[in-house]
Amino acid sequence: MDFINCYEDVSRADAYATLEFANTYYLAYRDLPAIMSEHVTGTKALDFGCGTGRSTRFLRKLGFKVTGVDISEDMLRIARALDPAGDYRLVPRDDLSEFAPETFDLIVSLFTFDNVPSAAKVRIFSDLRNLLRPAGTIVSVVSSPDIYTHEWASFTTKDFPENAAARSGDVVRIVVTDHQDRRPVEDILWTDESYRAVYREASLEAIQVFKPLAQGDEPYAWVNETKIPPWVIYVLRRAI
Ligand SMILES: C[S@@+](CC[C@H](N)C(=O)[O-])C[C@H]1O[C@@H](n2cnc3c(N)ncnc32)[C@H](O)[C@@H]1O
Repeated sequence: MDFINCYEDVSRADAYATLEFANTYYLAYRDLPAIMSEHVTGTKALDFGCGTGRSTRFLRKLGFKVTGVDISEDMLRIARALDPAGDYRLVPRDDLSEFAPETFDLIVSLFTFDNVPSAAKVRIFSDLRNLLRPAGTIVSVVSSPDIYTHEWASFTTKDFPENAAARSGDVVRIVVTDHQDRRPVEDILWTDESYRAVYREASLEAIQVFKPLAQGDEPYAWVNETKIPPWVIYVLRRAI
């Protein structure tokens, strides 16, 4: 089945650009500064699937020199408008050949692999691996399978009971309640076991895996975030 990237859409891009770091998204970003200061030396970074630039601006504020890439011109147009000094590039069909091998100290990917078709995952992770400097680090934040079967401060899935029967590689649906566009986002469920198989094939090694939980004292109306981790953060290195 052909998978359509739902972010190639002007209205969704406009809505997505209003998201910041509140609610469930807070947990995706909260631990990244500490993870990066522990694992990353150097400042040259690639933001794979930068969208409207939230993750790229986040890295720039941490002091990285960042190039943001995406396959959606609709998302990139907003990223450039919000951050005219930033470096945002369209990479049709995820062609990353404009970058020299061993260029980046850090490659991040926030939520992008939720939308990458199963058959493309190994190829893209292999390409990203080849763009890493030998001591470089990939930080990939993805949705946990649990996100699609529970309720959250930023998301609802109650209208999609079929998500519960989804297996790795199946399409699942989720609605973002933090913005105005209530059309479901279509993602591809991908389990931890499946990610680890992809990393092996792409000659990457997961050196740390985080499943961030809320503590309960944050200024957000948590639903399941103190008990069930909505996100998985993989810290990856070149295996060879
Ligand atoms: C959920 S958005 C996340 C945007 C940003 N990382 C953030 O944290 O706000 C996912 C982005 O990944 C992009 N994307 C999906 N598949 C991609 C691919 N194969 N190559 C590059 N970008 C892709 C989408 O167009 C979308 O802009």
